[in-house]
Amino acid sequence: ITRMSDLELRGKRVLIREDLNVPIEDGRITSTQRLDAALPTIKAARDAGAKVMVLSHLGRPKEGQFDAESSLAPVAKWLGGKLGAPVRLVADYLGGVDVAEGEVVVLENCRMNVGEGKDDEALSKKYAALCDVFVMDAFGTAHRAQASTHGVIRFAPQVAAGPLLWAELDALGKALEQPAHPLLAIVAGSKVSTKLTLLDNLTAKVDQLIVGGGIANTFIAAAGYGVGNSLYEPDLVEAARKVMTEARRRGAEVPLPVDVVVAPEFSANASATVKPVDAVKDGEMILDIGPETARRYAELIAGAGTVVWNGPVGVFEFDAFGKGTETLAHAIADSKAFSIAGGGDTLAAVDKYGIADKISYISTGGGAFLEFLEGKELPAVAALKARANS
Ligand code: 3PG
Repeated sequence: ITRMSDLELRGKRVLIREDLNVPIEDGRITSTQRLDAALPTIKAARDAGAKVMVLSHLGRPKEGQFDAESSLAPVAKWLGGKLGAPVRLVADYLGGVDVAEGEVVVLENCRMNVGEGKDDEALSKKYAALCDVFVMDAFGTAHRAQASTHGVIRFAPQVAAGPLLWAELDALGKALEQPAHPLLAIVAGSKVSTKLTLLDNLTAKVDQLIVGGGIANTFIAAAGYGVGNSLYEPDLVEAARKVMTEARRRGAEVPLPVDVVVAPEFSANASATVKPVDAVKDGEMILDIGPETARRYAELIAGAGTVVWNGPVGVFEFDAFGKGTETLAHAIADSKAFSIAGGGDTLAAVDKYGIADKISYISTGGGAFLEFLEGKELPAVAALKARANS
């Protein structure tokens, strides 16, 4: 794959697809993580003398109409502040855009364009006609085969991977393809059903697999313990058992909690009780791992060579049920392992426990991060490879 840094950009019209899909409340951006990650790419293109057009989606507006709530206006404003020069938001751009050398403009939300979602060829060609060089840098959207992430790559005069996309692929590849062992993965979240492919793929690679949240509850049920009123998936107990058996057959450890924190209801003020995993009663809900389990998991993390973290192990939004996640977060922060964290809830936990600068790599991908861990080829990356080989 050609990289943006391999190309001469001076005077060229450079269209950069970023994932600037950030949470916005009342017109204010509430997390700039993705913007911070994209900024160096945009600056590099500007400093190289390119005519820079930044393309992104935001949310999921309906195609063919303007939706003020999904406008990239707050993002353009933010970028202007960071670049020290106003950044124009161009609404009508499919027929061509005037941009000066060293100028940066933002093109309005590409999901308002008819054909974006279904990877329409005519729209892909229009994007391609805007530029001399198309740079794919939106790792967070690389799992979508859409006109601005996939189709355009077939038709743009020149294409390249941007530094952010490259860094993501490099870090994730390092963690999964050539990991320092032991490779430990933490996969947590509410449902086994949404992460079954991920669990299946990881069993073939990891040395230790720690599960948490509703996923762990289904595993606890599979191990034959009662889970009371806990969130779990009875239909997936058999699947969970298979994951455990398969992982162990391949020599991986799948430790289960020895103690848990239970409560009579799901609420911030519910009374929390620590008990052995085999003592959960009807009506009780498991909302966190217990302290002994957290201690054991932290020990495994301390001994790991690589840690891949997706999902909090308890209901960490409620302080009474956040200790497990907090202990693991600090264990990851203190470990010498190459560590990767990704996914919305995980990043919220990373923020809450203030360990962002102690993680080796924080992915900007949600769905894309998961699909990479599932072992799927991301369509945007496949398209870049196809162009590189043609
Ligand atoms: C994300 O937030 O995961 C990406 O921006 C992709 O968004 P989408 O799920 O709406 O395609």
